[in-house]
Amino acid sequence: MEWLRSLVLPPQGSAYATQVDNLYMFLIWLSVFFFGLIAFLAIYSAIRWRYKPGRITPHTTHHTTLEVVWTAVPLVLVIMIFLWGFKGFLQASVPPGDATEIQVTAQKWNWTFEYPDGTRAVNELHIPLGKPVKLLMSSNDVIHDFFVPSMRVKHDILPNRYTQIWFTPVVAGKHHVTCAEYCGKGHSDMMATIFVDNEADYNKWLETGGIDPKMPLAELGALVYQSKGCATCHTIDGTRSQGPSWKGVFGTMQPLSDGSTVLADENYIRESILVPGAKIVRGYDNVMPVFQGLLRQREIDGLVAYIKTLK
Ligand code: CUA
Repeated sequence: MEWLRSLVLPPQGSAYATQVDNLYMFLIWLSVFFFGLIAFLAIYSAIRWRYKPGRITPHTTHHTTLEVVWTAVPLVLVIMIFLWGFKGFLQASVPPGDATEIQVTAQKWNWTFEYPDGTRAVNELHIPLGKPVKLLMSSNDVIHDFFVPSMRVKHDILPNRYTQIWFTPVVAGKHHVTCAEYCGKGHSDMMATIFVDNEADYNKWLETGGIDPKMPLAELGALVYQSKGCATCHTIDGTRSQGPSWKGVFGTMQPLSDGSTVLADENYIRESILVPGAKIVRGYDNVMPVFQGLLRQREIDGLVAYIKTLK
């Protein structure tokens, strides 16, 4: 019945996913069985005891055996489903002691991941294959929700409080993360990618941040624009979004909210990335998170070079 499972449920990325799916498929088959049984009895009865001239319906009160059966059987079934689900819930709540702990910070509208060695990344989470990971999560602003369909884990992230999830990835490759709690204009763009790497790739990523040192700066900038969440609020075709479009911005005079103007040069762009609140373009609210410490120097150079190419 694997074909049916893959039809109704996303791919499985963790051992836990298999357990969740087993329970879920049990519920589906149980529903199919009772649907069939009830539909059969209803149709059969309608035909068997249909109206016929002269037929008199006998007076019936109740049938004790039948009533006991249709009370006891569902009761046993729902208790079984509860125990099965509760066991999974407990398992999902208690991470193993040897899990790699990664800090997750949610904010409008991106995800920041911080590793035990101090490495930080935005919107991309690299984890080693076959090892349990524990995500310790909190929010800088409103309630978000970290949802990884392929791992079957999902949990709210709240300001001023930690919540956690854990799982053991068993399938290498990319897995999709999405925010599952409406958190404002950029909610539907608040996504991240989990890369499940083998041990060697994981260690290499921790060292280099996954950046090819020979990639041309403007190309790197275009990559950063997509992967670090810039694209959530800044367009490159001149359309107004949460933030100003990047098209044709370089080298022009920008009107600011305090009435002054500023030349959009390399230093202005660098400052606007690291400390977005320093100079705010007139007509916009400053909703951008501070990127100080989140981008490598070369990534900032790349963004500046990329913006220069957007004429
Ligand atoms: Cu964050 Cu929706």
